[in-house]
Amino acid sequence: MPKTRQILVTSALPYANAALHLGHILEYTQTDIWVRFQKMRGHECYYVCGDDAHGTAIMLKADEQGITAEEHIANMRAIHEADFNDFLIGVDHYSSTHSEENRLFSELIYQRLVANDHIAQRTIVQSFDPEKNIFLADRYIRGTCPKCKTADQYGDNCEACGATYQATELIDAVSAISGATPIEKESLHYFFKLPEFTDFLQHWTRDGHLQGEVANKLAEWLDSGLQEWDISRDGPYFGFEIPGTPDKYFYVWLDAPIGYMAIFKSLCELRGIDFERFWAADSSAELHHFIGKDIVNFHALFWPAMLHSAGFRTPTQISVHGFVTVNGKKMSKSRGTFINARCYLEHLDPEYLRYYYASKLSRSVEDIDLNLGDFVQKVNSDLVGKVVNIASRCAKFIAQGNAGVLSENIENPQLWAQVRDAQERIAEHYENRDFGKAVREIMAQADAANEYIAAREPWKLNKDDSQRQQVQDICSLGINLFRLLVIYLKPILPQMVAASEEFLNDQLDWDSVHTPLTGHRIEPFKPLLKRVENERVEAMLEASAKQAAALQSASQSEPQSSAPEDSEPLAPQIDYDDFIKVDLRVAKIVSAEAVEGADKLLRLTLDLGDSTRQVFSGIKSAYKPQDLEGRLTLMVANLAPRKMRFGVSEGMVLAAGSKEGIYLLEPDSGAQPGQRVT
Ligand code: MSP
Ligand code: ZN
Repeated sequence: MPKTRQILVTSALPYANAALHLGHILEYTQTDIWVRFQKMRGHECYYVCGDDAHGTAIMLKADEQGITAEEHIANMRAIHEADFNDFLIGVDHYSSTHSEENRLFSELIYQRLVANDHIAQRTIVQSFDPEKNIFLADRYIRGTCPKCKTADQYGDNCEACGATYQATELIDAVSAISGATPIEKESLHYFFKLPEFTDFLQHWTRDGHLQGEVANKLAEWLDSGLQEWDISRDGPYFGFEIPGTPDKYFYVWLDAPIGYMAIFKSLCELRGIDFERFWAADSSAELHHFIGKDIVNFHALFWPAMLHSAGFRTPTQISVHGFVTVNGKKMSKSRGTFINARCYLEHLDPEYLRYYYASKLSRSVEDIDLNLGDFVQKVNSDLVGKVVNIASRCAKFIAQGNAGVLSENIENPQLWAQVRDAQERIAEHYENRDFGKAVREIMAQADAANEYIAAREPWKLNKDDSQRQQVQDICSLGINLFRLLVIYLKPILPQMVAASEEFLNDQLDWDSVHTPLTGHRIEPFKPLLKRVENERVEAMLEASAKQAAALQSASQSEPQSSAPEDSEPLAPQIDYDDFIKVDLRVAKIVSAEAVEGADKLLRLTLDLGDSTRQVFSGIKSAYKPQDLEGRLTLMVANLAPRKMRFGVSEGMVLAAGSKEGIYLLEPDSGAQPGQRVT
């Protein structure tokens, strides 16, 4: 065992404006497995995380709900913490960047940067929303692309033709917050002088702190010249005020990584840990950040440069992972593959996903595909079919034959030694974050164990009284091999291994491999993990698609930060019986009105012949309310009523919709309200 290391580990702090999805869970699972492995090996290891609570998006989200930003972030934090907990992410402390500790550290670091002459000031011109009195970041400006003339594009680039431009070049630009036409306005901004750290970063990025492919990507930026980094924002802004400035705030990305220090600081206070030991410039402790590929520049350029200037230690290792795709495609709300963590948990066991992700994780930055067919197959065949199966097959012979007490001897010492000796290779894979290799090695050993049992056929020997001791010896070794496998799997499957520990009547640590269980009584076998059922996966996708649809029709002007989805493929084939469940009717729009506080919604009153319905529909961008009154359309009449923020929606009108526009469907003239559509 190497000497005890001191290790501080972080995952990227999730934004406090949305629930977690299965992409986040990849990162938190990756970090958690690594941390559990380090702790199991006896190292002093701490894992901290928390909400990234500042910024315009969070402020607007709170406004939209009519609550304060503080209330909003408190709600989100509770939701995130529950997700962490239920996915068995064993953080030592979960907090938020909106804390006094973080304010103090942000001010301290900023003041040190100022003292070192690493902060510049200059006036810049920016788009400004004259109605809301707020400066507009590019993603809050929409307009027609100056190049290809596609409508409704963001202020910095066009999703249709890929052109990049200045927000001021957009045709008919509007503020996505109020709809007002932006004006240009000057403002004093503060900049971190990143170019002065070029030499430092040239070395730092090549010094073993990063994966090679990440260092190569950064070299492109370093070689093409770094820019000064704008670290200030004008009020109104939800964040920390910059000391000594009039109504200027730290940009959320300044105080977010400092949050790692602040959250750890509060853990130190709770547990009596020496903060300096981990953060002093000459610290011998390790600092590991786990992040996704989209936030590399913040962690591997700005952050080490800031820490270096402010006299703190820099990270030991930044581990970058790729993005989760589902069934080979970017996660998509319309396909139901944008799966929220909670939606998954409502249908499936968290350990299935932890295992699947582990089996796919490597040191590479490549995207990771959650292929749901493969997911079901792998979990069932590896965990249930190979690992749990060993215990369930062997346990009953031990229970019947020897009242649950294992043999005194190891029946096949070579096999035992082979599976035990795999430990070192597995440890190396865990240490290197090559979890897929660890899983493959563990499964190879599980195969060896199963082959041994299959070859010795204890169920046949058991029929012959003179062979009964043989049966006990074979199955005792089987249980011991199972025990080794679950020791190896413990960082990935904490819950299943806890249940196995009860069954084995044993506490499992990394070092437990050296002492097999002999003459030891085990408990009666109880199922340790159920098979994944396809139906549950399908139910999850269905629920996820429904949630996404509900969110989309209720969604506000808030721009989506995710990249555009590729063109919509056909949904899976359905039967006529499925189709006929949807009761489509001709409806007449009796009245239509805007909904106060909802930028996309119209409230429609629909005449169905013998009844009327209120339906909220996200078609405001395409139609003036008065133009709709009197028109016929088609509606889903048997959709369960949905409670929305503005009232209950009793159905859905049909419209074709994509980025290209929204087109309400209409029957030929003469159709009667209430007529069924088939
Ligand atoms: N708040 C910032 C991080 C600040 S760290 C000082 C942020 N938040 S986030 O909620 O958008 O993302 C949190 C982490 O989840 C990031 O590391 C991000 O890369 C990761 N992921 C978000 N979507 C993802 C996938 N689809 N797949 C894998 N990881 C993804 O960025
Ligand atoms: Zn364009």
